[in-house]
Amino acid sequence: MKAFNVGLIGLGNVGSRVWHNLLTHKKLLAEKSGKIIEIKRVALRSLQKGYNLGIPKEILTTDWQDIVNDPEIEAVVELIGGIDISYEIITSALKKGKDVVTANKALLANHGQQIANLAFEQKRRILFEASVAGGIPLLQAIQDGLVANRFLMIAGIVNGTCNYILTEMTSQKSSYAEALKKAKELGYAEANEKLDVSGEDSAHKAAILCALSYRFWPKVEEIYTAGIESVDPMDIQYAADLGYVLKLLAIIKKHPHSKKVEIRVHPTLLKKDHILSSVSGAFNAVIVKGDIVGDQLFYGRGAGGDPTASAVLSDLVELARYPSDAYHARIFFSSTESEYKIMPIS
Ligand code: HSE
Repeated sequence: MKAFNVGLIGLGNVGSRVWHNLLTHKKLLAEKSGKIIEIKRVALRSLQKGYNLGIPKEILTTDWQDIVNDPEIEAVVELIGGIDISYEIITSALKKGKDVVTANKALLANHGQQIANLAFEQKRRILFEASVAGGIPLLQAIQDGLVANRFLMIAGIVNGTCNYILTEMTSQKSSYAEALKKAKELGYAEANEKLDVSGEDSAHKAAILCALSYRFWPKVEEIYTAGIESVDPMDIQYAADLGYVLKLLAIIKKHPHSKKVEIRVHPTLLKKDHILSSVSGAFNAVIVKGDIVGDQLFYGRGAGGDPTASAVLSDLVELARYPSDAYHARIFFSSTESEYKIMPIS
């Protein structure tokens, strides 16, 4: 069977689970993709972490360029996060003719259009299922399963850390600080947890959902964003007394009589019997409303090493099955301009 050679950049919470799960599922993935997906090189900051995971010394490097410049590597998996070096890695990889898989929502939200354009010019693919809602195949559903629909609304819980904190504050009566500490220990939070609690991470995910469903990239700073930093246990208690639950929601909604799209992230009071109210812990849940299909609910584990690794591996299988050269460009990379625009929220 032919090999599909991959370079893995970043061996943190998600990268180490990609390594582990690829090893334990190698045969299964070969049967499903028709190729042996092989991690040929791993780039990481400190080699010790690689030794600890039992990764052969000869495939480890501290220089990501070793991966991007390796002619045998067909796909680069970028899992270092941040937006500076990761931009350089992804654009260099695309220019070198490699396909890319990333979980980097901050990078896509800020530079998605340039990266998409470059991938299109280079006739390469960039897949990022892991960037929104962890293990839930939400982006695949929006791009493929629900492709026939005009989207009327996409709304839901897309940050596991915030949902975990709000759940702990409600059910365990934990303080905000205790709950955040636990979310970090469980590997849900970003390296800079401010991104989670400020709502910015949800705004990044909202930008990606908007790009895929309305085919334009909103500027992140145009998205109305409020986080959960100032939520007080008293707010949660009062809400409960009145029959409500507090959730951080990302909402992307088409205005009914125009081509304007409202995009916002903020704590929201939901009636106790609302379907999103029962979503607890680091789980995510997103309602997608299509004009043909009506409401669809996507629910599952939205944060953490294994759910995110599951999405990264599904992107790798997709690339192994349909390499760029044989690939028919997705609407996402379409050259036709979107007629939709963001609706300012004052
Ligand atoms: N920090 C993110 C979250 C990770 O809590 O949802 C998954 O994107």
